[in-house]
Amino acid sequence: MESKYTLGMIGLGTMGRNLLLNMADNGFAVTGYDKDPNMIQKLKEDGAKHNLNAYESLEDFIQSLELPRRIMLLVPAGPIVDSVIKELEPLLDKGDIIIDSGNSHFTDTSRRAIELSDKGIHFFGMGISGGEEGARFGPSIMPGGDKTAYGAMKEILEAVSAKVNGDPCVTYIGPGASGHFVKMVHNGIEYAMMQLMAEAYDLMRTALGYSNEQIFSVFEEWNNGRLQSFLMEVTRDIFAFKDEVTGGFLIDMIKDEAKSKGTGKWTTQVSVDLQLPIPTINEAVTTRDLSKYKTLRVNLSKTYPEEKVTVENKEAFIVELEQAMYFSVITSYAQGLHLLWQASASYEYDLNLHEIAQIWRGGCIIRAAFLEDIYQAYKKQPDLEHLYADAGIASKMKEILPGMRNVVIEATKIGLAIPAFASALTYFDSLRTEKLPANLIQAQRDFFGAHKFERTDAEGVFHAIWNPVKA
Ligand code: 6PG
Repeated sequence: MESKYTLGMIGLGTMGRNLLLNMADNGFAVTGYDKDPNMIQKLKEDGAKHNLNAYESLEDFIQSLELPRRIMLLVPAGPIVDSVIKELEPLLDKGDIIIDSGNSHFTDTSRRAIELSDKGIHFFGMGISGGEEGARFGPSIMPGGDKTAYGAMKEILEAVSAKVNGDPCVTYIGPGASGHFVKMVHNGIEYAMMQLMAEAYDLMRTALGYSNEQIFSVFEEWNNGRLQSFLMEVTRDIFAFKDEVTGGFLIDMIKDEAKSKGTGKWTTQVSVDLQLPIPTINEAVTTRDLSKYKTLRVNLSKTYPEEKVTVENKEAFIVELEQAMYFSVITSYAQGLHLLWQASASYEYDLNLHEIAQIWRGGCIIRAAFLEDIYQAYKKQPDLEHLYADAGIASKMKEILPGMRNVVIEATKIGLAIPAFASALTYFDSLRTEKLPANLIQAQRDFFGAHKFERTDAEGVFHAIWNPVKA
């Protein structure tokens, strides 16, 4: 059989199909394979104008691909990826490239890359963000793996990715599982931004007594300013959407129990392993979990009833809420990027943070006007340890800090939970503190466990014979 296709996709669900259509739109000869004949039929229907075809036999599919073969997987993360690789292995040649484009855990990607490299096959872990729309018309793409093999994928990925000022929203991320790692952290930031918007909504409806129409207008105003982002746009539109059943707003009919698929939890888990704090992201993960305890919450709301009071000066508060949102959004990105900075060293990913900010400017779920500032900050200072340390960011933070504090104060006074906002402020206050009370923790550890401590005036480790004070 004549080898004619540049790339083959395994998994023709919505994401895989849309990405193939995107490639075909860009003039690439591509094909697909799926175990489910219905998916093949759907690709043929949707791709009729491109003459897009798919194979029912894996052998024929493999034989139809140009060498080195580029085989992209868009199948559910987990054991299915391993079983697809197992089926593929005997059919492949040295130098072929498998690209896993699902949300796989980066440790699985590391293992797979090592196992396949022993057989001369390149394995890429590639994060794709932007949902179904993104896959069809331009996502942000985060590929990690062997740098020379990336050369065989560059052209097609650059063509299908989103573009910002003409720059493609894809770049070679780094070796090993770095692509999946970066996508995981992207999702952690996504969780934090979503939680902040949910808390702002709660403050508006509860502390200010705003209607859905008023909340829509606030999100619209924010989206027209420095807080412009894809998630802000989506959130605004939710507040205009009517429920077909009741005629009211759909948002009021949705259960307040949030679900998740795991990438946020993984980000939190890794940050704890690396001892690199990302508390606002953690709070977003935890608060989704807390929301699931509905019966407990309902019961406790009766045990601890509190009269809901509204904020007095609503006009001033809404101005401060915008500042608190901006402060906390900066903080969420700062935490995610700090985690990438640490992972780059710990896992030898050699990440280029300005390029990561650059490819997040378009196509992905966390795309936002503010990413331009982040991109510029890291471009200017590639070794920047933390976004807070950039002079431009620092002057913005100082200006909005009083507003941030006041939002936390007001919410606390009226007993409204704002875990993400509060953690952003406390994180900031901890990081800007020269002298933390951690000396007491060290003294306590040494007192009861002889764990030793370091002194401020001498090198080395010390132990004291602590004297319990007799009462
Ligand atoms: C993206 C999204 C995508 C997905 C999330 C949802 O970048 O396109 O992040 O990957 O929407 O995984 O995650 P949860 O179900 O955990 O909210």
